[in-house]
Amino acid sequence: MTVAELSAEGAAALPVGPGLPNARREARWLLARALGCPEAWLLAHPDEPVAEATAALFRSWLARRAAGEPAHYIVGTCPFWGRIFAVTPAVLIPRPETELIVECALTLPPPGRPRILDVGTGSGCLAVTLALELPGATAVATDVSPEAVAVARRNASALGAEVRFAAGNLAAHVRGTFDLVVANLPYVPDAEIPGLAVEIRAHEPHVALAGGEDGAALLRTFMADLPRLLAPGGHALLEMGPRQRAGLQAAVTAAGFVEVHRGLDHAGIERVLVLRKA
Ligand SMILES: C[S@@+](CC[C@H](N)C(=O)[O-])C[C@H]1O[C@@H](n2cnc3c(N)ncnc32)[C@H](O)[C@@H]1O
Repeated sequence: MTVAELSAEGAAALPVGPGLPNARREARWLLARALGCPEAWLLAHPDEPVAEATAALFRSWLARRAAGEPAHYIVGTCPFWGRIFAVTPAVLIPRPETELIVECALTLPPPGRPRILDVGTGSGCLAVTLALELPGATAVATDVSPEAVAVARRNASALGAEVRFAAGNLAAHVRGTFDLVVANLPYVPDAEIPGLAVEIRAHEPHVALAGGEDGAALLRTFMADLPRLLAPGGHALLEMGPRQRAGLQAAVTAAGFVEVHRGLDHAGIERVLVLRKA
């Protein structure tokens, strides 16, 4: 089989639908990863023969993708802020909008040797990225899921980031204060979970999605603990959905924080709340 033949076979094998709008592109993306080459190479080498073992791997991936499994779980990796993170079904696939937390964090006045806390770390994408991007940083990261912590630990070690991990509920078990606290906690209202795309609902961990009745329950609980975790002048960067902001206002006021910035995602939706402890 050649590259072009397998690519065409892949496109024909994938059912076009809401979670899979472009079968041809998706097949090419999977084939490039099976071959371990850039997608552009496929276009430049249509007549290149593909080894039988690689073709078999590609076909097994196609079958999983056709059954609705997210492509990043199939290949086991996902890019975030220019680095490749391992992902398994124990962790949320990092979303491009979460990079906004990194973007906002890097525009804050940098404290010397910042102490970072990431709560609900999942794949570790935020803790690892910030630990590597901020010179002299030390980071602590937590997650309620021990399986997620294992994935995040693996990513930190593979990418050479100094992060201390602990499994537990929010930051209840964390001692000390931090200059930068980041959290992308679950914020999908419980009633909206059944309406999520099947790709998300059936494959990503429920504990990474469900945010209580209005989606802000965990964020509110965490906000009440934030004053003890933030050093004076420290910043908290919290990801939220479009409808969580109102439900958080009372908690922001009670914590006595100053809102310094609202990060908008590419769709113009308020996605990151940046707070400073006076
Ligand atoms: C939306 S995912 C975000 C993962 C990662 N930070 C990212 O941005 O890709 C939320 C994460 O919070 C974790 N989580 C849910 N409830 C938690 C809790 N009570 N305490 C700590 N972590 C929790 C989930 O296991 C999941 O990994």
